[in-house]
Amino acid sequence: MNVLLIGGGGREHALAWKLAQSTLLDELYVSPGNPGTVRHGRNVAIDLNDQKALRQFLLLKRIKVVVVGPEAPLVEGLHDRISEDPKLKDVTVIGPKAAGARLEGSKEFAKEFMLRHNIPTAAFRAFGKGQLKEAVEHLDRMKPPYVIKADGLAQGKGVVIAQDRKEAESTLKDMLSGTKYGAASERVVLEQFLKGIELSAFLITDGETFKMLPAAKDYKRIGDGDTGPNTGGMGAVSPAHFADKDFMQKVHDRVAAPTIRGLREEGIPYQGFLFMGLINVDGEPYVIEYNVRLGDPETQAILPRLRSDLLDLFEGIAHGTLSERHVDVDARTCVSVVMAAEGYPGKYESGKSITGIENVVNAYVFQSGTAESKKEGLVTAGGRVLTVSAFGKDLDQAIANAYKNSLVIDFQGRTMRTDIGKDLVKTPVSKTASIVQIL
Ligand code: AMP
Ligand code: GLY
Repeated sequence: MNVLLIGGGGREHALAWKLAQSTLLDELYVSPGNPGTVRHGRNVAIDLNDQKALRQFLLLKRIKVVVVGPEAPLVEGLHDRISEDPKLKDVTVIGPKAAGARLEGSKEFAKEFMLRHNIPTAAFRAFGKGQLKEAVEHLDRMKPPYVIKADGLAQGKGVVIAQDRKEAESTLKDMLSGTKYGAASERVVLEQFLKGIELSAFLITDGETFKMLPAAKDYKRIGDGDTGPNTGGMGAVSPAHFADKDFMQKVHDRVAAPTIRGLREEGIPYQGFLFMGLINVDGEPYVIEYNVRLGDPETQAILPRLRSDLLDLFEGIAHGTLSERHVDVDARTCVSVVMAAEGYPGKYESGKSITGIENVVNAYVFQSGTAESKKEGLVTAGGRVLTVSAFGKDLDQAIANAYKNSLVIDFQGRTMRTDIGKDLVKTPVSKTASIVQIL
């Protein structure tokens, strides 16, 4: 089977690495890919907005499966365009059509959907352009901190947790006037603040049935001890031991199942991955967001644990037989540490020479912001540069292994957290085996 993978980050490097292990794979193409994906497939440059060029490529290369890594092409209707093209009837897209991608593309839609299907989430109200006064008045009915979300896609920067009323008012002003977030914040969602530990839970679905995938804890802030600004994610741990069997059963029954059932009932076709961003509030899962894709860096921690053939699961989606396929998961813990450029998530420089990857033993290196330079070899070319993922028989060992290997890789300004997974060491790990059983 020939596959086209869309994207060029660490998530896509991990997907390419995993797909390349499939006995069902013939050729893998990655667009645009990165220097890491070259080892597992061929990097190609396809303009996704050029339907004719896309069609030509898919036909010429006899692509059967298109795997979409990031959300933007899905929200923009890439799946719709492929399936409406009569010449591309045989192509399966992993990722929903635009209607399903609204779960990520519109926070208000996602909140209304959860309300309709009784899926636990924070109480909320949505406000549009011209409703600044009403939104500010609504703050009277809330307690700080105030959670303010731009409705649309804002490159992961659309959520502000305002500590006081002044900050909340100025954020609402910035958002609703469109000055700071553009069209994405012409509508905003004001939401109750939830206190608890966050979990990224994942499923794969053909729209009829679904399978839970391993869950992970993401470390969003740039600094140790969860300090400093939010990033795309600075590390991940899978499994997260606080997400024990009982909790994951609740995620399955109260979030995953009603979401897939709800989509079906509403006639919204959905196939691919669903990322359920959760907060564990006193043992109860609440959804803070849906994403219609896998997470980055969570993918780099969960795919090494997936023993099953990913392309077999995709084939299950193509044939509507996902229920017959198996998701087999490695019980060991995988820890992923992201190395970023100095200054990220703010301004940073690129073009720094990366050394030492060849000295990594017993760990995986997934590249994101890297480029191949004729003169200098591998250089940095983004905020998040690469992720090192490592196993251990327990969490302590996985952390030690991930950091041992991270430290052999160097580039000027190398920035990483030194505490990935360490907060979880304090919680008991005895329930790991039971987590695996229910997946
Ligand atoms: P998002 O971009 O939706 O992932 O949100 C960014 C971050 O904001 C999340 O990772 C949470 O830490 C935080 N967040 C979002 N919604 C809430 C909420 N209702 N209560 C507390 N924190 C939240
Ligand atoms: N790491 C969070 C995300 O991928 O959205």
